[in-house]
Amino acid sequence: MKQPAYQGPAFDAVEVIMTKRDGGTLSPEQIAWTIDAYTRGAIADEQMAALNMAILLKGMDRAEISGWTTAMINSGERMDFAGLRNAAGAPMATTDKHSTGGVGDKITLPLAPLVAVFGVAVPQLSGRGLGHTGGTLDKLEAIPGWRAELSHGEMMRQLSEVGAVICAAGASLAPADKKLYALRDVTGTVEAIPLIASSIMSKKIAEGTGALVLDVKVGSGAFMKNVDMARELATTMVALGRDAGVNTVALLTDMSTPLGQSAGNAIEVQESVEVLAGGGPQDVVELTVKLAQEMLAAAGVHDADPAAALQDGRAMDVWRRMIAAQGGDPEAPLPQARESETIHAPADGVLVELDALSVGVAAWRLGAGRARKEDVVQAGAGVRMHAKPGAVVRAGEPLLTLLTDTPEKFARAKEALVGAVTIAPEGSRPANRLIIDRIA
Ligand code: URA
Repeated sequence: MKQPAYQGPAFDAVEVIMTKRDGGTLSPEQIAWTIDAYTRGAIADEQMAALNMAILLKGMDRAEISGWTTAMINSGERMDFAGLRNAAGAPMATTDKHSTGGVGDKITLPLAPLVAVFGVAVPQLSGRGLGHTGGTLDKLEAIPGWRAELSHGEMMRQLSEVGAVICAAGASLAPADKKLYALRDVTGTVEAIPLIASSIMSKKIAEGTGALVLDVKVGSGAFMKNVDMARELATTMVALGRDAGVNTVALLTDMSTPLGQSAGNAIEVQESVEVLAGGGPQDVVELTVKLAQEMLAAAGVHDADPAAALQDGRAMDVWRRMIAAQGGDPEAPLPQARESETIHAPADGVLVELDALSVGVAAWRLGAGRARKEDVVQAGAGVRMHAKPGAVVRAGEPLLTLLTDTPEKFARAKEALVGAVTIAPEGSRPANRLIIDRIA
């Protein structure tokens, strides 16, 4: 559904910038005009960059963040799942999850089919990775034949017949955010909480989901390095969601160490399939089940047992149908890296730290991620983790295996891992817990 174009008064871009530079508050009309004018090209990149920096330094109040979010939603189309019916013709509720991004975060892959088992539709519009955090679409594209681009009709049909879809967001969804995010990326203004909150929530509200669970990551591998900032971001996003009629809750979860035992593309698909088969790393299973419970509860389903659906094959069944519906072969062997190199434990003891950012950068340098939007990722590249924080290790045991098709990348990947691992005397315990807080 196309949103109405901005019809209000015009403003002077320099005055808008100076208002925020001097710590003032922007009016709803100034904000609506600014986003509309920037999307149309009537405000120059350098002016928007200056305004973003002023917002980063001076902040925005709730009303400004809400106005900024609404203006970004109105820059494009808004999807609507109100008419969605299942194969038997009954109305389907929708629920979605958004993670602020981390290392080894493959949770969307087992989570979407798991939630669909309980009759709630999951319309997951995802992105590709940039920098050290992976992208869900890059991971799924490791599956032979799988395609990310779906028309609206294909998406609706798949939601009705399978219950879950993970696909690329079309160009018409919050186009202002696409332009703004690219600008923030090159002007040191990504980290502003009002801009992150409005960027994420404009896309999720425009996507049209009825309920939303936010997984706000905290730690070295995340945008938010400390809990207080993560809590502020989560609280802001939950309020934006609720104001827009989307039942929204947030979990704060640890990203000081990677999730699971793999960071890459094909190797994360493989790990997700292990979880769907009732196995897989304990942290991935715990977070998948917790997020499934939250997504279902937010959509009004309170008596579901997601852990059982992982064990008895129901989630795997939906996964196979979801992959096949998008041209993928769920049984096909996944691509493997041609070269590998293993790093061994330097001492006996307990692994108390395995730094998420270091592992993410190593996987990226091995070819699993991209530095620029146009880069091609290697499906088989990444890092396998043989031990996670809390494990007892012996000197000489394998700790990490680095995977790539291009062995000249090993040296730079190993540089990223210097100091990433801390082994403490036996009896020591790692500091962090997986689920830190819940904001509703
Ligand atoms: N993810 C987004 O979509 N936007 C941001 O600003 C940061 C993370």
